[in-house]
Amino acid sequence: MKAKIIIALDVPNADAIPAIVDALPSEIEYYKVGLELYSSDGPAALAYLKERNKKIFLDLKLHDIPRTVARAVSSAAKHNVQLLTIHSTGGKEMIKAASDAAKEAGNGMQIVAVTILTSMNQQNLTEIGMNKPITEQIMTLGELAISAGAHGLVCSPLEAQGFRNKLGLGPILITPGIRPAGADVGDQKRVATPASAVQAGANFLVIGRPILEAKDPKASAMAILEEIRGL
Ligand code: C5P
Repeated sequence: MKAKIIIALDVPNADAIPAIVDALPSEIEYYKVGLELYSSDGPAALAYLKERNKKIFLDLKLHDIPRTVARAVSSAAKHNVQLLTIHSTGGKEMIKAASDAAKEAGNGMQIVAVTILTSMNQQNLTEIGMNKPITEQIMTLGELAISAGAHGLVCSPLEAQGFRNKLGLGPILITPGIRPAGADVGDQKRVATPASAVQAGANFLVIGRPILEAKDPKASAMAILEEIRGL
């Protein structure tokens, strides 16, 4: 599968969306709606994206008891989103309930699981009683999520190769933390260039600031598309 860009719509409300979508190359199909935007405007945040035939990555990072998550997945499926996130720390039953609910919805929505948030380090894991080395913990959770039925994983680009080696070509791998060579890293800690993320096995690159805060967002997006074309 050719790798694709997902634009992270990290904006406070839906009013900001049309200007962003209209300014970017039309070949960018995927947009990520996360907790900030969805908490502000709910499904209305998806309206403009649908009007423009864009595909939606709904990043709600669901984490609750299996029944509640399954019902939330069924509700999300009504909005025709392509990708929906859950937390793999919700456990095997919760992941399976989410994946089964997505299958039952029957409209192709795929469940992708977050392992350990990239904002957490080894010390933060120890604080919550997770004592394994962080990379082992991430692998354990990723394998659990895929074996329980998730379609893919959200991971750091630096973990993508390890997951590909362990899990093969089947699972979708979505990597944030993308920075073109020379770009401002901001608060991201574990970053990679677009080309190296794709070479490590990523199918989707989630990109926010390197495009949206560029002087010329369209040119920045075109340069990244060019960098990953043909990889
Ligand atoms: O601006 P930037 O390219 O860093 O945006 C990356 C996006 O990916 C943000 O929306 C951020 O919340 C999200 N994300 C992340 N790390 C994760 C999961 C999601 O950076 N592990």
